[in-house]
Formats: sequence, C-alpha cells, structure tokens
Amino acid sequence: MILKVARLGHPVLRQVAKPVPVEAISTPAMQQLIDSMIETMHEYDGVGLAAPQVHVSQQIFVMEVPAGVRHSQTPPVPLSVYINPQITPLSEEQAEDWEGCLSIPDLRGLVPRYTRLRLRAYDREGKPVEVIAEGFHARVIQHEVDHLQGHVYLDRMRDLRSLAFLEEFIKYGSAD
Ligand code: NI
Repeated sequence: MILKVARLGHPVLRQVAKPVPVEAISTPAMQQLIDSMIETMHEYDGVGLAAPQVHVSQQIFVMEVPAGVRHSQTPPVPLSVYINPQITPLSEEQAEDWEGCLSIPDLRGLVPRYTRLRLRAYDREGKPVEVIAEGFHARVIQHEVDHLQGHVYLDRMRDLRSLAFLEEFIKYGSAD
C-alpha cells in the first residue's frame, strides 16, 4: 500500500521515534508496514524512507540505491530494511554533497556527512546485522537515522545558501 508522506511542519517529523521491540518485528502488522514503506519509497523514487515520514514514530527505515541513480560511479545499494539502527562514524572527515527529502519536496541542499560509518541494526527477520558503509551509502544512512531522531537535512546544512528548488538546481547546475 502506498502511504501518505508527512511533510515538514508535521510534528511526527520532529519526534524521537520509539525503538521496536524485537519480538514485534515478525508480526503481520510490522511486515505489512515494511512492505508499504518499500512500496512508498519506490512510488516516489526515493533512495530511503524512514517510518516517521509515513506518520509512524518507530525506529525503522528502508533504503535502496539503484545503479546510476546519482553520479555514474555511485555503487548501487540493494534494498535494505533496518530496525533500531545505531551508527558509529568511522571517519573524522565529513564531505558535502546534495540531498533531498520526500518530506521536503522539490528542494536540494549541500549537507556535510561522515564519509564512512558502521551501522548496527535488526533486519526485517529480526536478525542483528552490521554494515560498514561509505560515500553515498553512508550519506543515506545518516539522513534516514536523522529522521528517527527528529532531524531533517536542513538542520545539518552549514550554509543555507546552497538550497535550491529542483527545477533551478537542474537548470543552473551544481558543483558536479
Ligand atoms: Ni528524508
């Protein structure tokens, strides 16, 4: 089922999402929610979607980076579901790159993110998983984990002057 996406200003986007009890992961309701989040992400061509974005204040996000979706050299990331994620940066360094968000439609901005991190979470079967992510993969994870803490990418920008509407972003180009 395609779910309605909460837009900036809806209080759910500013709440800290609740952890999911591990025994609740296998329930039909939770599995249905995960399926609907995946369907919603695909419908709106997102590379990630966090549960608060569909009005569910629980620590769940889905992500998938298809090949060639961004820079030609961006490696694809298979469809993944992460529950109760914890991230640890593995770089001191942060890099800036463009982000958008389905809850903040039609805008793009430059956001600094750690370039490498470790993610620990549960998958949709309730199994613990650990992932080392770099580059755009690490960027999407940080963006989605931020949603679970009530943050959006605008909060992370160093300089709001890079903000652009998508149409102008395409028309006038960007640093890359
Ligand atoms: Ni977002």
